[in-house]
Amino acid sequence: MPVGIDDMAIYVPKLYIDSKDFAIARGIDPHKLEIGIGIYKMAMVDTNQDPACMAANACLKLMQKNDLKPLDIGRMYVATESALDESKAMNSFVIGMLEQIYGDGSFEHAGGIECKFACVSGSYALYDNANWIRAEENNDRAAIVIVSDIAKYDLGSAGEYTQGAGAIAMLVKENPRLVAFDPKVTSTIIKNEYDFYRPFGRETPLVNGSYSNYLYLIQVKKAFDSYREKAIKTKLIQLQEDESITDKIDYISVHLPYRKMGEKALAYLLRHEWRCLPRWKQIIEEVGMDEPTPKDPRGTIESILADKDFMKADDQFRKAFMRTSIFKQVFEQKMASSLEASAIIGNLYTASMYMGLRSLLEFEYKKNIDLENKRIGFGSYGSGSSAMVFSGVIQSTYKEIVKDMNLEKEIGERSKLDMQEYIRLHSNEGKMNEPISNSNNEFVLVKIGGNTADKAGLREYVFSN
Ligand code: HMG
Repeated sequence: MPVGIDDMAIYVPKLYIDSKDFAIARGIDPHKLEIGIGIYKMAMVDTNQDPACMAANACLKLMQKNDLKPLDIGRMYVATESALDESKAMNSFVIGMLEQIYGDGSFEHAGGIECKFACVSGSYALYDNANWIRAEENNDRAAIVIVSDIAKYDLGSAGEYTQGAGAIAMLVKENPRLVAFDPKVTSTIIKNEYDFYRPFGRETPLVNGSYSNYLYLIQVKKAFDSYREKAIKTKLIQLQEDESITDKIDYISVHLPYRKMGEKALAYLLRHEWRCLPRWKQIIEEVGMDEPTPKDPRGTIESILADKDFMKADDQFRKAFMRTSIFKQVFEQKMASSLEASAIIGNLYTASMYMGLRSLLEFEYKKNIDLENKRIGFGSYGSGSSAMVFSGVIQSTYKEIVKDMNLEKEIGERSKLDMQEYIRLHSNEGKMNEPISNSNNEFVLVKIGGNTADKAGLREYVFSN
């Protein structure tokens, strides 16, 4: 019985900051942001928004679009790293909002938790819920997995141009119309790391930027190695001698902290996969230099990053490899469409890879490509750190859903923030009852904290018409 994603709905806040304005204000060459990072617009939440109301807005859209009633849903998970409470899970806030529409106690029969592992937790949530259905524990009900986050970095930091905000709700069920997950091949890796973390009480993370980039590549590659082993063992994929498993995966969708990271991840993976194949000789000829090796190939990430000669040569090699005809062709065919949304929304942490999937489906469909039976390989990464690699196949019914996908229309009209407004919002100086944008048909936050100490963290939301 195939299980996977039947439909998805997105919510992106109506405010954004333009990368050119941002670059000018910060004294950065705008090309660095547009080309080096790959960002044009970063979505920002208004004064009356938080990750829970974005999650509820995406979920309500999904339910209304599919005419779902609460009784059709057996589980609701929210994966986020923007938690609002140390104890109360974000899905309970979401259910509270949905009850305003569907009635008090309307989700009482269901279950669910909030999941945390930086950006990868949405993938764990999908995996657990797919297995809940495979185990037939679902009593004919579907699951909803919501990924919702606000990516916020310190003012003036290098992470500041990789911000964003948004939520995606995914309907997980048997015989899905969009993507069915391949069974028995999901692969994970986990290790204690401090590449990116947000200690209690901090609104912004502590980041080791170059370390985090490199760790992401290594962890996804390791999870991919394990995926390859499982895919071959289960005969999901069969390889001839001169073939790479990447030849057999039609699309590759990875975690996107920023657009360029997707391209870098693909380059890293292909180098790793192709290096031992006959095609490598021709690639090296086109690149025009041998692939460099670090002074200590068995060294730590720190020692490799500190090996300046190697890092410089490796950057040069990577850039030349990314200019080869074979890389460009594979990139265009397998990844480019998944990156479109990232460039105009920014990092969504848990939601980034799923916004990439949403983007891939829409923009490949618009190229008139037949997507039926195409396999998507997913490379999910979460700092701290864990990676999950899995795959799924686009179902024959995909057109029913994908034909109506229109990112621009679904994001809706957005207002550009000037730098002053952005800094006020970032510094939490705006008032909840004086939002910058108009809210139509969506949940907004109206109050935090009651009148007594025991109600300190209580959050009140209304559905604004
Ligand atoms: P940076 O200091 O801006 O990096 O930090 P850079 O100086 O290396 O520049 C980036 C690129 O711009 C380079 O290209 C430059 O050459 C290019 P590359 O060598 O990489 O191909 N560049 C230019 N291009 C055109 N015209 C120019 C120009 N100047 C330079 N004039 C960094 C970048 C991403 C590290 C920083 O923004 C950061 O710390 N971000 C936050 C951390 C992050 O996103 N890490 C990603 C991996 S970890 C992850 O994905 C998990 C995460 O999502 C969290 C979670 O799991 O919860 C973050």
